[in-house]
Amino acid sequence: MNKPYNVAVLVGSLRKASINRRLALALAELAPPSLKLEIIEIGDLPLYNEDIDAGTAPAAYDSFRANLKASDALLFITPEYNRSVPGALKNAVDVGSRPYGKSGFSGKPGAVLSASPGAVGGFGANHHLRQSLVFLDVPVLQQPEAYLGGAGSFFDEAGKLSDGIRPFLQKFIDAYALWVEQHVRS
Ligand code: FNR
Repeated sequence: MNKPYNVAVLVGSLRKASINRRLALALAELAPPSLKLEIIEIGDLPLYNEDIDAGTAPAAYDSFRANLKASDALLFITPEYNRSVPGALKNAVDVGSRPYGKSGFSGKPGAVLSASPGAVGGFGANHHLRQSLVFLDVPVLQQPEAYLGGAGSFFDEAGKLSDGIRPFLQKFIDAYALWVEQHVRS
């Protein structure tokens, strides 16, 4: 398979000033040359409904699925909502997993990073998402675990990444690059 590997980045927050979106963009800059990270938007996907997916699927489903199919690897960057996966991200996972037998996730190496201003760092969302990824046959990076608490201080008012979190993000994306190298399917 040709490098750089295309990494589909799914961000679990839809808000413009999202910390998680900014972390995704920061990781894209820190990534080694073997990876090309691109955010695949999930905000315009209608709520998954098997009725509207029968026959002619919504155009938003088609383009999302095409983007997913074109990827070699997956990166999930998400906040936690009520100790679980935000609905928008779970919806995207459901859309991408269908039609049955044509999932865009199968076998692609993945990683999950969760971040929250709170102390728990999105642990609940991170592991609930991992539960779905087991079923979807996504081999998920184990270490370093990435439950980032205190995320309100990761960026200054100008949007610059803090020096405090940068080394961890570098370690995470370097470990993920190695994981992709080891698990990507040709
Ligand atoms: C939250 N937030 C939150 N935080 C957390 O650590 N654990 C949680 O269970 C929840 N639950 C939750 C539910 C809902 C509906 C909202 C809107 C928010 C707070 C959340 O972590 C915070 O808003 C983050 O800043 C959201 O991430 P982004 O949008 O900055 O990426």
